[in-house]
Amino acid sequence: MNWQNTSGRYNAVSISLHWLMLVLIIAVYACIELRELYPKGSDPREALKMWHFMLGLSVLFLVLLRLFVRFTSGATPAITPPLVKWQAMLAKVAHIALYGLMVGMPLAGWLILSLSGKPIPFFGLELPALASENKDLAKVIKEIHETAGTVGYVLIGVHAVAALFHHYILRDTTLSRMLPGKRRR
Ligand code: HEM
Ligand code: HEM
Repeated sequence: MNWQNTSGRYNAVSISLHWLMLVLIIAVYACIELRELYPKGSDPREALKMWHFMLGLSVLFLVLLRLFVRFTSGATPAITPPLVKWQAMLAKVAHIALYGLMVGMPLAGWLILSLSGKPIPFFGLELPALASENKDLAKVIKEIHETAGTVGYVLIGVHAVAALFHHYILRDTTLSRMLPGKRRR
């Protein structure tokens, strides 16, 4: 696999991780939203929550790999024609926020389960608690996790619409840089 960005496209690892994590994040949101369809304490509701936790933790581990690749794969591929300065700045801020979401949300989730004294399941393993039991603090972090989850919807929505706007309206190479197998236009 190509580990280095070219002048016109992200490297294959970054591209694969970007789209794999999109699917994962959709599943993380879907599991926690769909739990509402089932009564409290029922098996399907507990299963959906468990999948929310395990897939959410997968996001955390994969984003660490993604950040490592990001900082070792050379300069970000250029957009043609180049963005005006304020747009480039805004994109940078949005990307930092998205990375913050992918690191912060799972860590907060892990912390909620730890502070609630609950097990932290991960595909047959049980991960260690990050802190000792403190139900009041768990409540606070849960509120933050829920609010940040809503902010995440908006952030991802704006990010995706911006990408499509650049591709179909401005017709620059913003999106094709992040697509597999497509050459720079
Ligand atoms: C990308 C990662 C994650 C995202 C985007 C995310 C998002 C969300 C959202 C939107 C909710 C529902 C809030 C509501 O009902 O209003 C939620 C609830 C919750 N999440 Fe996450 N989450 C992530 C990762 C995790 C992880 C890794 C854990 C634990 C290991 C976790 C634990 C929880 C818990 C305990 C709740 C409350 C569930 C309940 O009481 O029914 N989350 N999360
Ligand atoms: C349909 C959904 C999505 C589309 C169309 C999309 C499209 C893109 C495009 C075109 C880029 C390159 C933009 C640029 O360099 O300015 C990009 C970068 C990025 N995307 Fe997405 N994306 C989507 C979903 C997501 C999701 C769900 C996340 C994470 C929560 C995410 C996180 C990122 C990050 C962090 C970058 C910056 C990469 C870097 O340079 O380090 N994207 N996305």
